[in-house]
Amino acid sequence: MNRAPAVTAGGSLTVPAIGFGTYGLNGLPALDVIRQAVASGYRLFDAAFNYENEGAVGAALRSASVPRGELLITSKLPGRHHAHDEAIATIEESLLRTGLEYLDLYLIHWPNPGVGLYVEAWQALIEARERGLVRHIGVSNFLPDHLTALMEATGVTPEVNQIELHPYFQQETQRAFDREHGIITEAWSPLGRATDILQDPVLTGIAHKHQITVPQVVLRWHTLIGSVPLPKSADPQRQVQNLTVAGHLPR
Ligand code: A2P
Repeated sequence: MNRAPAVTAGGSLTVPAIGFGTYGLNGLPALDVIRQAVASGYRLFDAAFNYENEGAVGAALRSASVPRGELLITSKLPGRHHAHDEAIATIEESLLRTGLEYLDLYLIHWPNPGVGLYVEAWQALIEARERGLVRHIGVSNFLPDHLTALMEATGVTPEVNQIELHPYFQQETQRAFDREHGIITEAWSPLGRATDILQDPVLTGIAHKHQITVPQVVLRWHTLIGSVPLPKSADPQRQVQNLTVAGHLPR
């Protein structure tokens, strides 16, 4: 069992406090990286139709060393397929690509407000959940107005909103809205892409004081503010390091 603490929101979904991002992991090299992430202790995995890696993620997790029921596997609907029938076909295609019987979590990747079909896409996700294709549904990159439109039109609150979030982009307003509505906030690029932030003088000061690394400081910040970070690392040692933040022990 994963000893990670969990985050629960208003719905029936509980997720580990830290998940694993898979953006940029494609093809055969991704298999070892993702299997290693399972061995490192990750149980929540984040993929997307647009990452073009549902095949690799599915193959790695189907052959993982833990039972399917312990894993939470996410994919996302692209903005160009929001029309109802296209959305349903895309979700079915995600399942075929992963080779899984169901996905644990399916998100609308972004609201694509210029096209304005995200409510229709949401209705398709609700239908996919009713059909058992996906167990939980949510959104990504949605603002309060977009979320309000979904809830008013369907009465169904997204279980997750995955947004860009890191110390240089703290998103207080969006996080407060999510919290008030029982929506889990997940963080993409939780390490701010691990560029300038690694040299940040405040963060390096905190890291030095606590004898930990800057990524560990940042990931601890995420868990303290109640966000679920999805760090990606191809490196086994950094995978473990990223799970070893206070209150979250690796296997
Ligand atoms: P690598 O895969 O070589 O470890 P973000 O999740 O914010 O988009 O950042 C992803 C980037 O952060 C990847 O390039 C990854 O590189 C790097 N990264 C992940 N964890 C660490 C870490 N603990 N220390 C340094 N870089 C890291």
